[in-house]
Amino acid sequence: MAGKILIIDDEEAVRKVLKTHLAKEGYRINISSGGKGVFEDLKQSRTQVIICDIKMPEIDGLEVLDYIRLHMKTVPVIMLTGLTDISVAVDVMKRGAFDYVTKPVTKNDLLSAVQKAFSQRELLLENRRLAREVKRYQILLEQKIIESRENLGHRNVELSKAYGTLKSMNFRFVNVLAETIEAKDHHTRGHCNRMRMLCVELGRIIGLEQKNIELLEYASMLHDIGKIGVNELILNKEGPLNEEEKEHVRIHPEVGRKILKGIPLMEGVSDIILSHHENYDGSGYPRGLKGEAIPLGARIISAADLYDAMSNDRPYRKGRPLDNIIKELKRVSGTQLDPYIVDVFLENMETIVKKSEVQ
Ligand SMILES: [Fe+2]
Repeated sequence: MAGKILIIDDEEAVRKVLKTHLAKEGYRINISSGGKGVFEDLKQSRTQVIICDIKMPEIDGLEVLDYIRLHMKTVPVIMLTGLTDISVAVDVMKRGAFDYVTKPVTKNDLLSAVQKAFSQRELLLENRRLAREVKRYQILLEQKIIESRENLGHRNVELSKAYGTLKSMNFRFVNVLAETIEAKDHHTRGHCNRMRMLCVELGRIIGLEQKNIELLEYASMLHDIGKIGVNELILNKEGPLNEEEKEHVRIHPEVGRKILKGIPLMEGVSDIILSHHENYDGSGYPRGLKGEAIPLGARIISAADLYDAMSNDRPYRKGRPLDNIIKELKRVSGTQLDPYIVDVFLENMETIVKKSEVQ
């Protein structure tokens, strides 16, 4: 469809010439004679391009131009100037006119300016369309980001709930296993729970990360789980074991590792359990590991295990007095036990023991 043009000029003769030239080219023309009615004419016109004279008696072209630039941003304006008005022409371009044509208007100048103005209009419309598209896309993107944040939040809550359930199930499972050992080995009633308190407190003082404290907690309760595989008569024998019996009891760290291997969340635990009878100087079993090669959790369990064995009554002997226990811990520091763990234990003896007794 042919483009729509609004011609604003106070001189009827000029309006007629312009209209004739443009109508011949198929453009649809609206006319305004300027003056006070010009703004109403602009509102009604729904035009695509405007040709406007600068010098008009009542309201001049510059004022009309300012109005168009403010209210009709996608309508290019061609200003008509007198031959002597070149500086004015430059000025109107600066104020937002698209082009200017000098009077008297020639057909060629007029048509060329009008064609360029319509191309400019296409560009302005396309730009506006793209800007809207970009805006729409931005809003969509922001919505998507908000939605995915909300979804993520929901999923996090669900995951942490599921993890909490899993952890409490795991803890119940560990407790049941620990009770199984105590049921079989009558000498160790309450030992698993005391071990748990002693080891967790030692781990906290040493500054272990929370996840390692959890591993230590499970490992300390289950360190003797392998005794399930040891003959009950030997386990509950009153008095010292002979060499053959000792050898049989020594299988329990490996049996323990086998029981827990492959159970989710118990991988780290089974490694500690395998090493809980290793000695710091390499004289322990089953692998004869030395020093730092023994997992830290296992070194903590060894110290707590020795303390608990000495401090509690057994059917065939009474628990030792505290000064005697301290003396023994110092004696085996660096040989059976990690000297660092013994130091921490002795320095914090009161707190650690109190914690284990309260439970
Ligand atoms: Fe053991």
